[in-house]
Amino acid sequence: MMIIMEFTEIKKTPLFDAFSELGKRIFLPEGIFYWSGRAKKEAELIGTIGSAHARESDFINGGSEEWLPCYLSEIRNYINNLHVKEITPYASIAGLADIRTQWKKWMIKKSLLDEHSNFREIHHLEKFTTLPVITAGLTNGIYLASALFLNPGEFIISPNKRWGNYDNIISRFIGAKIKSFEFFKDDQINLEGLKDAIRQVAEVQKKIVLILNFPNNPTGYVPSKQEARDIVNALNDLQQRLNLPMIVMVDDAYEPYIYREDVLQKSLFYDLHELKTDVIPIKIDGISKELLLYGGRIGFLTVGLKESWISDDEQLELLKNEINNKLEGMIRSTISNSNHFYQAVVRKIFESKGMDEIIAMRTPVKDLLEQRYHKINQEINQIQDDKISLDPNSGGFFLFMNLKPDVIKATDFADHLLKKYKVGVIPIEKPNDNINGIRIAYCSIDIEKIPEFVSRIRSALKDY
Ligand SMILES: Cc1ncc(COP(=O)(O)O)c(C=O)c1O
Repeated sequence: MMIIMEFTEIKKTPLFDAFSELGKRIFLPEGIFYWSGRAKKEAELIGTIGSAHARESDFINGGSEEWLPCYLSEIRNYINNLHVKEITPYASIAGLADIRTQWKKWMIKKSLLDEHSNFREIHHLEKFTTLPVITAGLTNGIYLASALFLNPGEFIISPNKRWGNYDNIISRFIGAKIKSFEFFKDDQINLEGLKDAIRQVAEVQKKIVLILNFPNNPTGYVPSKQEARDIVNALNDLQQRLNLPMIVMVDDAYEPYIYREDVLQKSLFYDLHELKTDVIPIKIDGISKELLLYGGRIGFLTVGLKESWISDDEQLELLKNEINNKLEGMIRSTISNSNHFYQAVVRKIFESKGMDEIIAMRTPVKDLLEQRYHKINQEINQIQDDKISLDPNSGGFFLFMNLKPDVIKATDFADHLLKKYKVGVIPIEKPNDNINGIRIAYCSIDIEKIPEFVSRIRSALKDY
C-alpha cells in the first residue's frame, strides 16, 4: 500500500499553482514510516528497523546490556580527537583528497574478497577507475549517477523488488521511468526477464541504464557465483549485440554483509569492470552500513573506465579529470560539498587502523547478523504453508516473505500481525509489479526473539 497525501491544503493556496512540475509531482510515500511508526507503538517484536542493532555487550568488549545501533568499537575515540580545523571548514567539492585516495585503496581491497585476484586485475582496477567522489550518503550518489544519465521520460532498468527510494529519486524527482522486471524465477535471478527488459529499452532509447543492488534490499538476494557469471556474460553479450553504451549502477550499500560461501563474495562492479565491452559500471558505496555510520552521510561514487577508450596515460588522466569535473559540477550545484566532520572521522579510522583491523572491528557485528540470518531462515523454512514463499537470500539486513495475493493482502496481513500478535513488519504491496509480501529486518531483531517472532507469523498465517 502506498499511502499518499492528498495535499488538499496546499492546493487551496497560491503555492500550488506556483509549483514547478517537480514541485507538483514530488511527495514522500509514507508506507515505511507509517508501518515503522505503528510498530514502535503497537508491537512487542519489531522487524521494521533497517539498521543493525544489538546488545552492546554482544559486539563491544565490556559493553553494556543496552540495545543499541551496532558501531565500530573505537568510534568514540575518533570522534573525540578531532582538531577544530578538521571540523569547521568546508570540505572540497568532491571530498577531501586523502580520503578519496584511501577509499580507492579500500575499494581495491574489497575486490580481493573473492577467490584469487591476480596482479593484472588489481593494476587494471587501480588504473582504469576514477578517484571516487564523495557524496552525501549513497542516496545522493544514486541521485547524481541517475541524473547524469537519465533525461525525464527515459528508462532505467531495475528488478521489481528494489529499494523504494529508487522510485522517489528516479521517477518522482528526476521524472525518468523505471523499467521493472520480475526479479526471480525458480529461486534464481530471472535472467530472461532482465534481458527482455534491456531489449525493450533498446528499442526506444540509445543507451541502456541499469541499477543493481546485491545484497538486495528488500530480499537479501546475492547471486550465486554461477548466476553472477551468467549476469555478467548476458550483459556483455547484449552490449555487443545492441552496440549501445550500457551503464550499470552498482548499489553496494550492504557490500560486506554476505553470509553464504556459495554466492558472490564481492561486488558485481569488479567483474563488470573487467569486461572489454562498453558495459560501464558505476560503483556506489559508503560508510552508512560498511562502517556502521548511517548518520555520517558519506558515500562514494567511482566510475569504471575501459582500456579501449584511451591510447595513452596522458589521455587517461585527461578523461579522469573531465569525468571528475562533471561530477563536481553536479555536486556543487546540489549539495555543494559533503559533511567535513564525518570525512575527518573516516580519515581517523583509516589512519589509526589498517584495513584488516577495520574489517576485524566490524566482524563481531557481521557475525551477529550472520547468526540471525541462519536462525530466521531455519525457522521460516519450517513453516509448511503454501500461502508463503521466501525469496532467495544470502546477505544484507533483510529478507522478503511473499504472500499469495489471492489469499492474503500484504497490508492486511501486516495490520493483523500488529493488532493480534504485536509483531511489526513492512508490507510491500505493488500489484502492478507483482509484489505482495512482507520485509523482515532481522538486522534489528534479537536472535533469542527470532523463534517467537516467526512463531507468531506462523500463527497469523493460520488465521487466513
Ligand atoms: C539498497 C540501498 N541503497 C542505498 C541506501 C542508502 O544509503 P545511505 O543511507 O548511505 O543514503 C540504502 C539505505 O537503506 C539501501 O537500502
